[in-house]
Amino acid sequence: MKNILLTGGAGFIGSNFIKYMLSTYNYNIINLDVLTYAGNLENLTDVENHPNYTFAKGDIRDRVLLDELFARYDIDTVVNFAAESHVDRSIEDPELFLSTNILGTQALLDTAKKHWKINLNDKHCRAFKQGVKFLQVSTDEVYGTLGATGMFTETTPLAPNSPYSASKTSADLVVRAYHETFGMPINITRCSNNYGPYQFPEKLIPLMINNCLNGKELPVYGDGMQIRDWLHVKDHCTGIDTVLHKGEVGQVYNIGGNNEKANIEIVKLIIENVGKSEQLIKYVQDRPGHDRRYAIDNSKITSELGWSPSYTFEEGIKETIEWYLKNEEWMSKIISGEYMAYYKSMYS
Ligand code: NAD
Ligand code: TYD
Repeated sequence: MKNILLTGGAGFIGSNFIKYMLSTYNYNIINLDVLTYAGNLENLTDVENHPNYTFAKGDIRDRVLLDELFARYDIDTVVNFAAESHVDRSIEDPELFLSTNILGTQALLDTAKKHWKINLNDKHCRAFKQGVKFLQVSTDEVYGTLGATGMFTETTPLAPNSPYSASKTSADLVVRAYHETFGMPINITRCSNNYGPYQFPEKLIPLMINNCLNGKELPVYGDGMQIRDWLHVKDHCTGIDTVLHKGEVGQVYNIGGNNEKANIEIVKLIIENVGKSEQLIKYVQDRPGHDRRYAIDNSKITSELGWSPSYTFEEGIKETIEWYLKNEEWMSKIISGEYMAYYKSMYS
């Protein structure tokens, strides 16, 4: 592995992963990102001049550009983070999610096939160049929702409930099909809710921190007893690295943090850490189709590949809150006119 096409690298997880990879390996990273509202090059200022890092602005659905990038940089690995990623926005505009998340993934797969397949003209040839891999970054939301007990394993039936999770599930199935039909060397990772530095403040944790800091109401959907498993973004980065290097071709790996928490517990923990009052909590109307509980069974990646998460939620959330307190300028730049318009339409 030398030349990685990493998509969506100006977003939350992608930017953390770029920094992690540049500090861990001597690989070239080409970051393809169209810079939607969620893409922010300020997440990458530490590495923008790194000799192994290149930024290309563009859309994963742009096949001409993809072709050019594969040829120019001799791409041997794809890590596909690029996506529309927010459930609430997918309820407002499902089509954008289907287009980016499904057709974008397919355009990447087609381009990878074109450049990596040994004999393109032979439909029975399943041989690909040595050492190439396509890694699709997916989500536990593809499994739908759980009751009070049980956990998602890699064989849990796919049952997505939101337009976002339906689009991610569809992308997973297309990636799987390219492996089954063409022999494309792939892995799919399905992780739980990430938290950590550089997350866009539309998501639960940074939104609550930001509202606390500004003395604004904390909008809790429904009864606040929905449960998510929380994974520190740095643990997610080591998980993807592990699958990239050690994952068996064709396999799916769940990546979870072993940290199940109810939303209201998190909101209260943030209030306590920031030193505000629980009076800020405002219970608001529930999200339509809101998944009640996610929980990830990690045993495949831990037993087969030797990965495990290193953060406890208690230390991770403390460190994360401190990061947002120290980086108020980063947050205030993000809270632009577009964000304010979104916030107003969602919460008032
Ligand atoms: P994000 O919204 O912060 O970043 C997404 C990035 O993709 C942005 O930089 C955006 O500009 C870029 N992008 C969007 N459409 C694009 C397009 N058409 N072409 C090129 N770039 C495009 O998302 P994130 O939280 O960093 O999530 C990254 C990936 O991880 C996504 O695929 C998401 O589904 C998955 N995931 C995220 C979480 C989580 O908790 N954040 C959990 C599970 C899985
Ligand atoms: P979110 O961060 O949007 O991630 P996901 O929907 O992908 O799990 O939301 C996490 C949980 O927090 C989810 O159960 C919805 C809830 N939530 C609120 O209660 N209030 C909010 O303002 C937001 C953004 C989320």
